[in-house]
Amino acid sequence: MKDQTIEQTEQFVRNEMGEDSTGHDWFHVDRVRRNALHIYKEEKTGDPFIIEMAALLHDIPDEKLNINAEAGKAKLNRFLDTIHLTADEKRLIIQIIGSISYKGGQKTELQSVEAKIVQDADRLDALGAIGIARAFAYGGKKGQPIYDPSFQVREEMSLEEYRKGKSSSVHHFYEKLLKLKDLLNTSTARKMAAKRHQMMMLFLEQFYQEWDGKKS
Ligand code: ADP
Ligand code: NI
Repeated sequence: MKDQTIEQTEQFVRNEMGEDSTGHDWFHVDRVRRNALHIYKEEKTGDPFIIEMAALLHDIPDEKLNINAEAGKAKLNRFLDTIHLTADEKRLIIQIIGSISYKGGQKTELQSVEAKIVQDADRLDALGAIGIARAFAYGGKKGQPIYDPSFQVREEMSLEEYRKGKSSSVHHFYEKLLKLKDLLNTSTARKMAAKRHQMMMLFLEQFYQEWDGKKS
């Protein structure tokens, strides 16, 4: 039964997310699901069914993929009513998805170990080589420059500023990506983040060298 529910959910998400080019595509969701199940296996805690379901559905209500936050929530709700779940499972999945987003660094206290694992899995996909690719893809779609040295790095910001403020994709590394390794919940995710963090630091170092016109 649970296998079939996962299968149905996968089909739904594949259909919903196919065409996005901001880094919120099906492949992102699939990586988050795999990261989450890996963390679960290492940490040996939480309910793997809830973890997999929440990972698969985590971007479905995202404001960027819906007219607004309300429409997103309604879409998730409608889908959950079409599959076989207990009321508790449904409530937990909704609660996890509502609590894990980064949104400019605003901190919500996470209620469950499943939420901590899915949040870590989502954050890992913003790091490393994939994270670099996603940052520039998102930046291009929004029409922001790859880099502009005249912009300030924004330390504290509201959600509005985080989404709409003047920034560049390189600035996004300082505003979010380089902070993520210290914001992870599980030690498994911290281990997975180390190499990805190093990769981003190396990328930035080389980026500035080329920006400054170094010849080698
Ligand atoms: P979440 O959905 O986890 O709250 P976002 O929707 O803010 O996170 O980000 C989704 C992806 O787009 C991430 O890989 C993130 O790094 C990237 N991204 C978000 N905002 C920017 C930005 N201003 N510039 C470049 N990349 C961004
Ligand atoms: Ni995501």
